Amino acid sequence: MKKIISIIADKMSAAFVAAGYEEKFASVTVSNRPDLCQYQCNGAMAAAKQYHKAPIMIANEVVAKLAGEEMFSLCEAAAPGFINVSVSERFLAGYVFEMKDAPKFGLEEAAEKQTIVVDYGGANVAKPLHVGHMRPAVIGEAVKRILRYMGHEVIGDAHLGDWGTPIGLIITELKVRKPDLVYFDPDYTGEYPKEAPFSVSELEEIYPYASKWSKEHDDYREESRKAILELQQGRRGYMALWEHIMRVSMEDLRKNYDNLGTVFDVWGKESDAQKYIPDMIKDMKDNGYAHISEGALVVDVKEETDTKEMPPCMILKSDGATLYNTTDLATIVERMTLYNPDRIIYIVDKRQSLYFEQIFRCAKKTGIVKPETDLVHIGFGTMTGKDGKPFKTRDGGVMRLSMLIDLIVDEVRTKMADREMPEEERDRIAKQIGLAALKYGDLSNQSTKDYIFDIERFTSFEGNTGPYILYTMVRIKSILSKLGDAAGAAKPSAREIGADERELLLTIARFADSMEKAAAELSPMKICQYIYELADRFNGFYHANKILTEPDEIKKAEWIVLCRMTLNILNDCISMLAFEAPDKM
Ligand code: ARG
Repeated sequence: MKKIISIIADKMSAAFVAAGYEEKFASVTVSNRPDLCQYQCNGAMAAAKQYHKAPIMIANEVVAKLAGEEMFSLCEAAAPGFINVSVSERFLAGYVFEMKDAPKFGLEEAAEKQTIVVDYGGANVAKPLHVGHMRPAVIGEAVKRILRYMGHEVIGDAHLGDWGTPIGLIITELKVRKPDLVYFDPDYTGEYPKEAPFSVSELEEIYPYASKWSKEHDDYREESRKAILELQQGRRGYMALWEHIMRVSMEDLRKNYDNLGTVFDVWGKESDAQKYIPDMIKDMKDNGYAHISEGALVVDVKEETDTKEMPPCMILKSDGATLYNTTDLATIVERMTLYNPDRIIYIVDKRQSLYFEQIFRCAKKTGIVKPETDLVHIGFGTMTGKDGKPFKTRDGGVMRLSMLIDLIVDEVRTKMADREMPEEERDRIAKQIGLAALKYGDLSNQSTKDYIFDIERFTSFEGNTGPYILYTMVRIKSILSKLGDAAGAAKPSAREIGADERELLLTIARFADSMEKAAAELSPMKICQYIYELADRFNGFYHANKILTEPDEIKKAEWIVLCRMTLNILNDCISMLAFEAPDKM
């Protein structure tokens, strides 16, 4: 369906032309003075310069051409030359009823369907998911679903870190602790055991220990560096150990991502890209893009217009080892080979933005991607405690993601202590509300900003929160269930429409605008803003009218439609944000 703003823009264009002015001046925006009008056109001010005429005169002429337009309840010129427009309630109601019967509420899917890869996991094997992994998982899942709703082909990739430094450290530490393991015997040629020589909790304890130790001991660090190199060169025992590490921790990671409702389409790993490295490097060398600098192989990515320092992109270290960069570039080669995407979107901490700038430039320059392939980094900020520091456990340790989820779910459960329902049901609902609180608390902020994890506020049933949205949905579900399976009206009648109802209609009608903005700006925050407004308008409408006891059956039937529309739109939106609503709370 055409958006209301576009319908108005078309009429405005025709009126400008009919009045003798160029069409380009007729652009329409949502009013920034909603107390005066719903939409506005400021084109008369710009046209005034070109036509050497007072803006108010132009505005008046255009308004005169629009006289008698049935869709407008207001169309007037205002000093110094604004054209203020509001649409009539009749028109609005008709529009909303048309949305009801259209797929996706009349949203027009993207005209150009793209194939898009979203890289948003980034967890590392052998390390438990911690709070730092929450943001990419939550933001990435939402971005993926928003783009998919717009009709794009979207592939969500976990891109697990299973290669490089951490693995070297684990191998080194295992060798210290269990030197007799067959994996360390260079002369061993037999089969390796099926069973891993460690448990997942052992693994999780080994990594931080080894990481700390290596920072204080040069020989240990050197040892682990050598281990990676040997792994990269395919040493059998190390490969077998690495496979054990992978299997044991992947299982655990899957469980944790499942628990959060993050659903990857592809469980890609850094190691998957390794096989693309030799050809990629050969190409870079053959085509003269890569050169040796201080023993390392690098690609210059500086541009003349740079105002900031732009170091070259390192491809191989002087000892021949590959790096994080090499893997990311090879992963692009892999993705181009497998999916040929139009766009690759990375949801990674904003502290890596210079890094991604280097990678993107290098990929463009060396022809790994096409000139028109869109490489995007959404750099997110940090979730902090009230002290402004990264969120930690009470004793200052790294907080696991599972612990964070428990924390917020427990808070909700406490709030629901007085509800009469079986324990099991309370647990299930508390989990749904807790996840909504957590995700909405995150997504309602601009991704690039840091924000405070405020459990009190996030779990509040009032204000701009996830639970408030759910509460509104539960309210609507309850209304609809009380009204039985009343069919709702097929068409709006010619009755009087009150101000609160009009505001609700107007907000419903703006669904497509909000979706398009959210998709264009890759901003789940826009969806949050929209559903908060929609929930708020619904509650305004609810309090102004007695839906359940309304004696006028025609009115009631139309209101049922509005209740259903609101609920269905909220439902689609929250499933884009990857949470769900209970039936009661
Ligand atoms: N595993 C990395 C880390 O822990 C994050 C990976 C982000 N994604 C990427 N394509 N580089 O820092």
